[in-house]
Amino acid sequence: MSITIKTPDEVAGMRIAGRLASEVLDMLTAHVKPGVTTDQLDKLCYEHIVNVQGAIPAPLNYAPPGYIPYPKSICTSVNHQVCHGIPNDRVLKNGDIVNIDITVIKDGWHGDTSRMFIVGEGSIAAKRLCTLTYEAMWKGIVKVKPGARLGDIGHAIQSFAEGQGFSIVREFCGHGIGRKFHEEPQVLHYGRPNTLEELVPGMMFTIEPMINAGRREIRELGDGWTIVTKDRSLSAQWEHTVLVTDTGYEVMTLSAGSPEIPAFAQPAAASAPSTAPAPATIAP
Ligand code: MF3
Ligand code: CO
Ligand code: CO
Repeated sequence: MSITIKTPDEVAGMRIAGRLASEVLDMLTAHVKPGVTTDQLDKLCYEHIVNVQGAIPAPLNYAPPGYIPYPKSICTSVNHQVCHGIPNDRVLKNGDIVNIDITVIKDGWHGDTSRMFIVGEGSIAAKRLCTLTYEAMWKGIVKVKPGARLGDIGHAIQSFAEGQGFSIVREFCGHGIGRKFHEEPQVLHYGRPNTLEELVPGMMFTIEPMINAGRREIRELGDGWTIVTKDRSLSAQWEHTVLVTDTGYEVMTLSAGSPEIPAFAQPAAASAPSTAPAPATIAP
């Protein structure tokens, strides 16, 4: 299989799936607080996706080659867990950080997005990791336009994150997405400018950097899914599903509750009035 190019009709389907995935995170936000278990969050998501959205939680029973079927509807990765954390009876406590990764299928289309949540009051180090990982994702997103290459995205993320003293997980990457959960291409979160596949309008893929406060090495837990940092340092991740448009990018996975987009990624205020003071007039 090669990279699929989405038609305008197909993009419309992806827009709906993407917004729904993001709205699951909006719904969940008020529930992520000390005392809740990740199983309770999973249940809330299942009910919302199935009964309110009329959609399907893509992770449930998902079984790529070499994996046992994933047993839950969402991924909840806490503290030094990097990704694919399986919800269980773990109680979230003050100061924990948790990535919640939602993928829904609506009318056959997949929307895939994740955010970091700080449970109660986070440490300065935890907040810094979460904020800078969010910015790292956007450093990659703003590179998306026709003629750019996948290596430009990876390089932007890597140079930003490593510049802050963090490390990039290499074993997992973003991915093409559409009628299938994981399609070509692989979107690495590290790399060199002007390398790899050239971006073409209609390509659709996720950007989802996993960034560690310590070393980049990871290992898998015995449950066959959960990935953790080897040095047990904190890890953060954010994810959006992004379309290559004729002029740049469109993010599919936005909704009313999406966090504010960093200033460097805001569209330029082309016709905004100048904020410079008007020149003083001098009487002749
Ligand atoms: N949502 C994850 C991603 O961003 C994949 C999770 S696979 C699962 O690609 F089975 F763990 F849900
Ligand atoms: Co993904
Ligand atoms: Co995801």
